[in-house]
Amino acid sequence: MKTIEIDGLTFELFISSQDILDKVNHLAKNLMLKYQDNWPLCLIVLNGAAVFSAELLKDVDLSCEISLVKAHSYDGTKSTEEVVVEYLPYDLIKNRDILLIEDIVDSGLTLNFLKKELKKHGAKNIECVTLLFKPSEYQYNTNPEHVGFIIDKEFVVGYGMDFNEKGRNLVDIYKNNLYEN
Ligand code: IMP
Ligand code: MG
Repeated sequence: MKTIEIDGLTFELFISSQDILDKVNHLAKNLMLKYQDNWPLCLIVLNGAAVFSAELLKDVDLSCEISLVKAHSYDGTKSTEEVVVEYLPYDLIKNRDILLIEDIVDSGLTLNFLKKELKKHGAKNIECVTLLFKPSEYQYNTNPEHVGFIIDKEFVVGYGMDFNEKGRNLVDIYKNNLYEN
């Protein structure tokens, strides 16, 4: 099994770049079918979703508008209780349908905070596409609407996701079973 080490922690190969690309193409096709000529405003949740969204949005319709959100709820490998919004294009969202693009939904704190914040500022309908989803950790009733891979409690890095800001540029996704200890 291929392994890598980041900051003294060992991660093993989990999802290969080919499997990721196949899944991203599949998600893009489903989104194309769903939205057709009526694309919502796509909001890429930085930093984690930068790589996933670049691949996902390559294939979608030209009428698709794209902007960024910078928010985080994570400190090392432990979720913090707070979401910090560093950037959100508040002037764009009134009366808009919105598609949030996430790398991974874990506790759901970030996603559900952003949904509430967008609604408060007049967004009409908000959905989320996420590459990875950890249902065992999720603490809310409404699941993300479009999910690539469902995973267990693993902590993952690669394809945009980091451990202490490292590993985002890996083309495959690696995992560490931190929670088993
Ligand atoms: P949540 O608010 O707990 O759902 O966490 C959301 C954010 O935490 C994600 O968008 C990621 O940026 C980060 N995150 C959650 N789980 C992992 C992981 O396993 N590896 C890397 N980042 C993660
Ligand atoms: Mg993220």
